[in-house]
Amino acid sequence: MSNKTAFVTGITGQDGSYLSELLLDKGYKVVGLKRYSAGEDKNRLKHVSHLMQNNNFVIESGDICDSASMINLLAEHRPDEVYNLAAQSHVGESFRTPINTTNINAVGPLNILEAIRINNLDNTRFYQASTSELFGDIEGPQSEETPFSPVSPYACAKLYAHNVTATYRKSYNMYACSGILFNHESPRRGEHFVTRKITKAAANIKLGNQEILELGNLKAKRDWGFAGDYVEAMWLMLNQEKAKDYIIATGETHEVGEFVEEVFSLAGLKVKDHVRINPKFYRPHDVPLLLGDSRKAERELGWKRKVDFKKLARMMYEADLEILENERNQNE
Ligand code: NAP
Ligand code: GDD
Repeated sequence: MSNKTAFVTGITGQDGSYLSELLLDKGYKVVGLKRYSAGEDKNRLKHVSHLMQNNNFVIESGDICDSASMINLLAEHRPDEVYNLAAQSHVGESFRTPINTTNINAVGPLNILEAIRINNLDNTRFYQASTSELFGDIEGPQSEETPFSPVSPYACAKLYAHNVTATYRKSYNMYACSGILFNHESPRRGEHFVTRKITKAAANIKLGNQEILELGNLKAKRDWGFAGDYVEAMWLMLNQEKAKDYIIATGETHEVGEFVEEVFSLAGLKVKDHVRINPKFYRPHDVPLLLGDSRKAERELGWKRKVDFKKLARMMYEADLEILENERNQNE
């Protein structure tokens, strides 16, 4: 068992919860960063509520855009590992709030790298949540050798973070790396992302709570994996002899429309009866095709995905159906 401390930003998000579970299982102390909100915390922390009784799990309030809070928290906890998962992570939203997205996704990681440097945390290792969105409109399969060509404010900001992470590795001899993760989903996925929007709507339609699901571009192709598999790769990347960047993907790609078909067939529903296109959900520029080649991670980290497309769709649909049925039973 480890007696290390990990500092995890983005603790209220999908990946923060799975990563915390993994690290606590390995014996880490986990310090999770949550930004202040005037609203109810109970719902925001729902994916980590089962960890709250664990003495090795601590929540701190702060914001990666506030350099003072990053400097103070890292000085206090002196973590062995920092995982920067915090982001404005919705690509469509980044076209509506490009400046806020850039502050969080580009300046935020820089604040953390600076906090590590200023506090002389020479042994602290840093993980940056990079993304397949960096490839933009470059044809797949995409590997570590594929050039980046971002096509959204989200991806442009993430490219800065990716480059500045490599710059700190080279300039200050820091153990700092970026995981270029392709789309990963789970029952804990935010409800505005397309897979969860689809599984929740299908469950609602099945139960008679909803009639129509409105979507945007059904032709985009994504390489979808399971978040639980992907957080393992984050940990592996920070526990090697040398810091390197890796692609994490399944090597399979599917159209958004195929995910709809798969989930609606699980629900016994006909797509044409319930799904409508609403141009409101189109993006000014959408990444057409993501298909990752993660053979380097398989070879060097021994990482391999366990959950495939069909299993993922079923896991998410069944989880949403169960949540909605429980809610209905409680209201009866
Ligand atoms: P997520 O569910 O959207 O979680 C994002 C987290 O960031 C939330 O906890 C959010 O907290 C927090 N956050 C936002 N702004 C912050 C700030 N200024 N200071 C501190 N915390 C802040 O995202 P995810 O799916 O877990 O993804 C984790 C990371 O991986 C993100 O950086 C994302 O861009 C990247 N990524 C994700 C995927 C994917 O398919 N999931 C693929 C590649 C890369 P609030 O609750 O306060 O909003
Ligand atoms: N969100 C959403 N909502 N997307 C839709 C909809 C809809 O109603 N209809 C069609 N889509 C299409 C989007 O245009 C996109 O082509 C695809 O579905 C996937 O959209 P998202 O689920 O929002 O994910 P994403 O691929 O844009 O971004 C996710 O993956 C990236 C890694 O490739 C996010 O998790 C990013 O944070 C991550 O970096």
